[in-house]
Amino acid sequence: MDAMRMSRAARAVASPRVVSVEDLRPAARRRLPKVVFDYLDGGAEGEVTLRENRRAFEEVTLRPRQAVVVPQCDLRTSVLGLELALPFLLAPVGYSRLMYPGGEVAAARAAGAAGTAYILSTISGHRMEDVKAASTGPVFYQLYIIGGRAAAEGMIERARKAGFSALVVTVDTPVSGMRERDYRNGMRELMGGSLLAKIPFLPQLLVRPGWLASFLLDGGMPALPNVVIPDQGPMPLMDIKAALANAAVAWADLRWIRDLWRGPIVVKGILTAEDACRAVDEGAEAIVVSNHGGRQLDCVPATLRVLPEIVAAVKGRVEVLMDGGVRRGTDIVKAICLGARAVLCGRAYAYGLAAGGEAGVSRAIEILRADADRTLHLLGCPSVAALDRSYVSVPASWRRDED
Ligand SMILES: Cc1cc2nc3c(=O)[nH]c(=O)nc-3n(C[C@H](O)[C@H](O)[C@H](O)COP(=O)(O)O)c2cc1C
Repeated sequence: MDAMRMSRAARAVASPRVVSVEDLRPAARRRLPKVVFDYLDGGAEGEVTLRENRRAFEEVTLRPRQAVVVPQCDLRTSVLGLELALPFLLAPVGYSRLMYPGGEVAAARAAGAAGTAYILSTISGHRMEDVKAASTGPVFYQLYIIGGRAAAEGMIERARKAGFSALVVTVDTPVSGMRERDYRNGMRELMGGSLLAKIPFLPQLLVRPGWLASFLLDGGMPALPNVVIPDQGPMPLMDIKAALANAAVAWADLRWIRDLWRGPIVVKGILTAEDACRAVDEGAEAIVVSNHGGRQLDCVPATLRVLPEIVAAVKGRVEVLMDGGVRRGTDIVKAICLGARAVLCGRAYAYGLAAGGEAGVSRAIEILRADADRTLHLLGCPSVAALDRSYVSVPASWRRDED
């Protein structure tokens, strides 16, 4: 049964019809129950920012150098002193284990095999030591202070011992965003409600017997093995909304974290020049310009749109990464031209994971790699390192804002 399920999922992502990352999305939708697919796919409130992230990429155009022969393009970059074979990392995606058995382990292994880094979410169904051991590449740990400070101290200590390369502190979740699809689908009831409360929402699970069987064989709803509350044990995560509401990070917490973690700190969720400078002052080595993939505060700008202002403000004092809406190699190239050192991909690989486990993540990575390589060739640019502003044209309205 297991072998059959694996091969069916592997076949789905290996299909010749899967040409772009967007083709992995319907494959994920076919395998997942609506409640899980919408958790992965959806954004907050009216999903304005979710759409804006994509639209901003479409507004930026490329300026190729023709008749330049580039025999080979070099996609390598470095992030926090770590050599990466690709200019993109895999973003932290909570509940990856609900998308596919082995979720976080599978994604980390695929990232390592491709020569890039994986960022493990606090909302992980697998032990951080197992995730780290699965990858041959660097793994970063993304921290939410859920479960209280003592639990966070335990996580940081374990991350240090396990050899994580950086700590990613997400600062855009003082409370969870209002993801309306999750409410309509009964996410909360299904996660933690009484059997009676679950009943109206169960049919969506029953119409995905393949997912349901794999979920149950994998042990059902996982606790959070990395969030260990003293005297209580691993935190059972029934309601992410309630957990996050007690886990807001303030700048003062960053100083506390700095004392506990001697390695690099990455602050994720920056959207303004002011906050970027504040992160620099608080000792961050890198920032991620991010609106959480449109899942937190709706109606904030697209990340690509604010990237140039932030890059200008930090004046090279920290490495600037960005995420939000990256689905194609051209997106990666545009972000780098506008000053990002590398980008993070969230849904792009998570669709692959949901559709076909590790094979799906590898497929998504390979599509993006080939895309980025082809884009460089077509631009007449020999390497990621050589990309600069001269390869893109931004709308006049964007330029006005920078004056
Ligand atoms: C299903 C899902 C779960 C996520 N969970 C986390 C998380 O646990 N921690 C975090 O910092 N960001 C989380 N994010 C945000 C991603 O790290 C990243 O910022 C976002 O996905 C980028 O946008 P993209 O999906 O369009 O690439 C999550 C995103 C998705 C789609």
